[in-house]
Amino acid sequence: MRKVCIVGASGKLGRYMVQHALDRGYEVVGVCREQSVGKLDAFADRITVVPGPTDDQAVIERAVAGCDGVLTVLAPWGVEQYSTGTAQAVLDLAEPGARLVFSCGWHITKDGRDVYPCKLRAFVAVFGALARLTRFADLDDQVEACRRIFESDTRWTVVRGSDLEEGESEGLPVWSRHVGDPILTSNRTRRVDFALFMVEALENEDLVHEAPAIVGCRTPSALAHAAQAAAV
Ligand SMILES: NC(=O)c1ccc[n+]([C@@H]2O[C@H](COP(=O)([O-])OP(=O)(O)OC[C@H]3O[C@@H](n4cnc5c(N)ncnc54)[C@H](OP(=O)(O)O)[C@@H]3O)[C@@H](O)[C@H]2O)c1
Repeated sequence: MRKVCIVGASGKLGRYMVQHALDRGYEVVGVCREQSVGKLDAFADRITVVPGPTDDQAVIERAVAGCDGVLTVLAPWGVEQYSTGTAQAVLDLAEPGARLVFSCGWHITKDGRDVYPCKLRAFVAVFGALARLTRFADLDDQVEACRRIFESDTRWTVVRGSDLEEGESEGLPVWSRHVGDPILTSNRTRRVDFALFMVEALENEDLVHEAPAIVGCRTPSALAHAAQAAAV
């Protein structure tokens, strides 16, 4: 991994990913909306910024050229299929063989075998309906984006984030294939560590064609799982 593109670099997750990527010595190209370029000022002399809508094929084509990896923040904002357009542009235009890592939430399922807590089901139903009604966001857009990724024969990973919180890094999150697995019960990850998992995934071949659901490595459910494994 030498050069990486971060699509959605100006958001909270994106900026953490920029920092982790620079820490690893990668050359970084960031894509963000024109009005958000200022949010990347702290990195101005260390990264290349390509301003523009992330679902614009010409913008993505320019940004991903020569990149060995692409990290993409899929956010469901608006009702214009922004996530789907963004994912499709990355799938279509990334260099052949590039590692593609996408972010989303636990509500995305790859094989339908996730078992969701009632609270999450209720949140998705209520927030999803209200958001669509007010044209604020469309959760189905992220679902469609991920459906296309799962069908793609590119070298993708879809990282599914739990509830997020700010704070110092606790270390690389742990993961499981299915929401409902006991290791994930705590449903909490530091945003900085979500970003760490995304960047680490670029060089982790075991995660190709996986949709890991992640949780903080120091949460009670992760610690209980580690203690159990050590006792065996
Ligand atoms: N928030 C949570 O609790 C949570 C939980 C689980 C998973 N996740 C996942 O984590 C990732 C990052 O989420 P986050 O909540 O931490 O947000 P974030 O990092 O701040 O990212 C939000 C992204 O959406 C863009 N955006 C904001 N408003 C937009 C609009 N109206 N049209 C188009 N783009 C817009 C932002 O770009 P600008 O900088 O240009 O505004 C930014 O790239 C997402 O994939 C999300 O599904 C979040």
